[in-house]
Amino acid sequence: MGLTILGTGRHFPKDRATNADLARVMDTEPDWIKQRTGIEARHFAGPGEWTSDLGAEAAKKAIARAGLQPSDIDYVITATMTPDHHFPGPAGMIGAKLGIPGVPCLDVRQQCASWIFQLQLAHALTLAGQARNVLIVGAEAHAGFMPWEDWDYLYGRGGNPPSKEAYDRATRHRGLAVLFGDGGGAVVLKKTDDDKRGVIGIDVHTDGRYVDFIYIRSGFNHRPYATKEMLDDDLHIPDMRGKDLFKHAVTKLPQSVRALCEKSNVKLDEVDLFVAHQANDRINGAVRDALKVSADKVPSNIARYGNTSSATIPILLDELNEQGRLKPGMLVCFLALGAGLHWGSALMRL
Ligand code: UT7
Repeated sequence: MGLTILGTGRHFPKDRATNADLARVMDTEPDWIKQRTGIEARHFAGPGEWTSDLGAEAAKKAIARAGLQPSDIDYVITATMTPDHHFPGPAGMIGAKLGIPGVPCLDVRQQCASWIFQLQLAHALTLAGQARNVLIVGAEAHAGFMPWEDWDYLYGRGGNPPSKEAYDRATRHRGLAVLFGDGGGAVVLKKTDDDKRGVIGIDVHTDGRYVDFIYIRSGFNHRPYATKEMLDDDLHIPDMRGKDLFKHAVTKLPQSVRALCEKSNVKLDEVDLFVAHQANDRINGAVRDALKVSADKVPSNIARYGNTSSATIPILLDELNEQGRLKPGMLVCFLALGAGLHWGSALMRL
């Protein structure tokens, strides 16, 4: 029993901020951002534009591209780290926006590593005869935690320059403010009788000891769970230990890929394409060097979108699909690391 990619889709909010836009509201250099991360611009969700909207729009495109109707989908697996509400997760809202009430919609919370876990679940569900057409969605609206308030000024559409206090506050959070962007990506996977196609191996890990490498400190650990003091202390903005994450990613991801290839009896040079989470281009460069893989096998789109967390791999898959770079029979290796920490890799024969 195999699994095949039937359709892909992506969707972005219309507003887009360049590095120069960010430099209006905090102390940063457009060239620094480009050189240290590879990012040149990112989209941000506008007011009233929710994660479930971005996910549902991407999903509609993926379903249409698969030649299916929403009613053909029998399982939805959604991921985000920026849900519309504290609870429930956006999976149900995405199902509702697709017009498929009653279809099971599962929320996965593996942040930037979600795709690997979603793919593992889709593989297991189809193998167990529990689903045939699985829709995977990753979507994010990080705009809600960005550390500035005047969005018009950010985009150069008027507004007011930040006070010194507001500018200093944004600068304190610049590590994450320059990295993240918003968008949604979706992939329709179909069970197939061709057992040569589909997931041939998965290697996933979690180590909660590193939760403070990137997390939002506020939550139901407070009584009540939201206070003005918490907002004043920026407890709703992620805390990120960028350097520690970087080191973990460049160490653990090559280890995972090597272990996966070994247990799957695959030589690294048999892999046609490495579709990696887009956290920072320098991370993927270091992983590439560690694995001695040529750059053309590790596509990158972070320059245009920044790090869209759970959406990066579905978005990149959609671009590759559009460019005709996903060919039947190809061996693809996915790799990702995210808050939790969760990380891993997966091998899939297209
Ligand atoms: O999706 C998963 C979650 N996130 C990640 O995987 C993030 C992984 N980490 C990273 O991408 C990088 O660590 C960052 C992009 C967050 C930071 O880059 P870095 O190369 O680790 O910078 P750094 O914190 O070591 O800072 C180097 C220098 C410092 O100046 P000095 O002390 O050398 O004079 C910083 O003050 O760069 C300065 N700097 C900046 N300058 C302009 C740090 N951030 C910025 C900035 N703009 N945004």
